[in-house]
Amino acid sequence: MPVLERLLQRRLIVVTGKGGVGKSAMTSVLGRSLARRGRRALVLEVDPRENLHQMLGVAPSGGAIVEVEPNFYLQNLKPRHVVDWVVEKQVRIKMIAKRVMRSPIYHRFVEGAPGLTEIAILGHALRLARGELSGTPDIDVVVLDAPATGHGVYLLTAPRLFAEAIGDGPFAQLAGEVADYVADPVASGVVVVTQAEEMPVQEALELRRALAERFGREPELLIANGLYPPAPEGDGEDELTALWRRRYQLNASQLERLDRQWAGPRIDLPLLPIDGGAELVAALGDRFDSALTNLEEA
Ligand SMILES: Nc1ncnc2c1ncn2[C@@H]1O[C@H](COP(=O)(O)OP(=O)(O)OP(=O)(O)O)[C@@H](O)[C@H]1O
Ligand SMILES: [Mg+2]
Repeated sequence: MPVLERLLQRRLIVVTGKGGVGKSAMTSVLGRSLARRGRRALVLEVDPRENLHQMLGVAPSGGAIVEVEPNFYLQNLKPRHVVDWVVEKQVRIKMIAKRVMRSPIYHRFVEGAPGLTEIAILGHALRLARGELSGTPDIDVVVLDAPATGHGVYLLTAPRLFAEAIGDGPFAQLAGEVADYVADPVASGVVVVTQAEEMPVQEALELRRALAERFGREPELLIANGLYPPAPEGDGEDELTALWRRRYQLNASQLERLDRQWAGPRIDLPLLPIDGGAELVAALGDRFDSALTNLEEA
């Protein structure tokens, strides 16, 4: 099945890759693209730095769902709120729930329990996509800007590990549901972002291997972002031009490496002389859209 068709089918798409390669920008670009192709898309950010609203040119979400354009939404999520929500649902008596949540042991538990944050993030995405949260717009697909902490694949494997380790109770139940969802190759997908440089490419390849080993599945798409354009031709060779040329050559050799080692579809996007914000996302988005359509025809 062509990559576009696959992306249009998914209810959850996790955008991952090494820190700083452009995951947040690509989450914005992909969400925008899917929304413009008729999917009600929500981009979900868990980064407390809150970058996405700037990239999309809207006010900060502050936890609420913000409409970016028709059928396109943004939310910044505090995983802690999701954990609190599960506790509140479990402990029906509000006063007791509040007391539990105020207790220092609870804080330590939430911060220390391995996998709990991951379950909270994915559990929220799952409930959004299933329309299980009251007062939220109808969403077809959640595009998750995965946190850059640890290895990207941990986000996906944590729920299964958690469910197996705990076995029982509300968190284990949520973990089990999330784990099934993540393992379902129709419901969810992974998009890997990289730059054409040694370390990010290494991490992208490792991510692909880990996905194959643990889930028996391939990422939907690789995006090679921030590629240097060829350096301007000239007689004088100043230091900056030489540096630029070296970056360009480095990019070229890493793209060759990807040609050899990455079997799935790939979209290449240039480094643009635009300083962030909605203008950058629009310019990258237009390139991404035509590349996606071309992949379709290829
Ligand atoms: N193709 C591009 N051309 C120009 N600037 C870009 C491009 N892609 C991303 N950027 C810029 O590079 C910076 C890093 O991008 P972004 O924040 O999306 O990376 P990230 O992978 O989300 O980083 P982190 O791991 O810290 O969350 C941002 O300032 C963004 O605007
Ligand atoms: Mg980011």
